[in-house]
Amino acid sequence: MEIGVFIPIGRNGWLVSTTSPQYNPTFDLNKQTTLAAERYGLDFVLSMIKLRGFGGASGFWDQALDSFTLMAGLAAITSRIKLYATVPTLAVPPAIAARMCATIDSISNGRFGLNVITGWQRPEYSQMGLWPGDEYFAQRYDYAAEYVQIMRELWETGVSNFKGKFFTMEDCKLSPRPQADMKLICAGQSNAGMEFTAKHADYNFCFGMGYNTPTACAPTVARMQAMAEKTGRAIGNYGLFMVITGETDAEARAKWHLYQSGADLEALKWLTQQSAVDTKSGADTNVRHMADATSAVNLNIGLIVGSHATCARLLDEVATIPGLAGVLLTFDEFVSGTEIFGSRIQPLMQSRKHVAPVAQAAE
Ligand SMILES: Cc1cc2nc3c(=O)[nH]c(=O)nc-3n(C[C@H](O)[C@H](O)[C@H](O)COP(=O)(O)O)c2cc1C
Repeated sequence: MEIGVFIPIGRNGWLVSTTSPQYNPTFDLNKQTTLAAERYGLDFVLSMIKLRGFGGASGFWDQALDSFTLMAGLAAITSRIKLYATVPTLAVPPAIAARMCATIDSISNGRFGLNVITGWQRPEYSQMGLWPGDEYFAQRYDYAAEYVQIMRELWETGVSNFKGKFFTMEDCKLSPRPQADMKLICAGQSNAGMEFTAKHADYNFCFGMGYNTPTACAPTVARMQAMAEKTGRAIGNYGLFMVITGETDAEARAKWHLYQSGADLEALKWLTQQSAVDTKSGADTNVRHMADATSAVNLNIGLIVGSHATCARLLDEVATIPGLAGVLLTFDEFVSGTEIFGSRIQPLMQSRKHVAPVAQAAE
């Protein structure tokens, strides 16, 4: 099973709380996290794009770095790990995104790929006059499909004359082209999102879901696999989890309860309001699920909570999900979280036996 880290590009990572570790995103924080991930033989790092935070007492995501320029910096200081940036398709024209990808491909010697998002939070784009109107909610993945076709034409042939509903290219050129096949991630969970992935992307990312319920995302993975069978394309499936660990199960559980007790209700109110705005995508978008009362304090990302041995056992269970290629991990505290994962949890995992020599050398 592959392991990636969803690096902390936004304030406080993925805990909407005043009693979780409070920190701002800096290059140094993301550098330390990424270098630890590389040292312990992890497979990739991904950064998201967030253009407006949720506010509240914790100022959740109110500070966030830019994804492309962060990954360009990380590409220059790493040598093995794969790197993925996220493109806000409403804010960056596809020919510019394609060129930025080609540039980071050059910096990283072919270790770069792209997460394509349509955007679900209107104020991120309306604040800069880039929101096309609420009918966009229903057309998000038609727009993304044209966007990706243009990038692929540019990467594969160096020219695009694409004419569509949203974009018109006229002898648009790209050179140099990337040296490696540019892999595309889409984390859509709606039918439209998954159909888009089955046709145009290489990897799907889905929410892990639940508290120590490692295989809860299996039905979503199966749904994606069924759609991929129809298009005949191979799609790699990844689950998103949050690891909270300690020396004992009780210590880890106590941390989680502490974070829950400080839930930032004002920031969560913003999330609930924003995720309810989209009434056009259909009930199948999972964006509303993030604000679900079950575990809104960590955006309902699947939790893996326990001692190092418990986390290893639960992650090995994740690895048994049919069709799952890997997991994307978040932590309550990223530098120590990645270090502890690499040095204490990973060595106990059957599904990571193949990286033992790399990880041992890091000790
Ligand atoms: C791993 C992962 C990364 C994501 N990254 C971003 C991001 O950087 N920016 C963003 O606005 N949405 C992001 N999303 C949200 C998805 O792009 C998508 O909109 C969401 O899962 C809802 O699915 P749907 O678009 O099919 O309705 C991410 C979701 C996941 C699971």
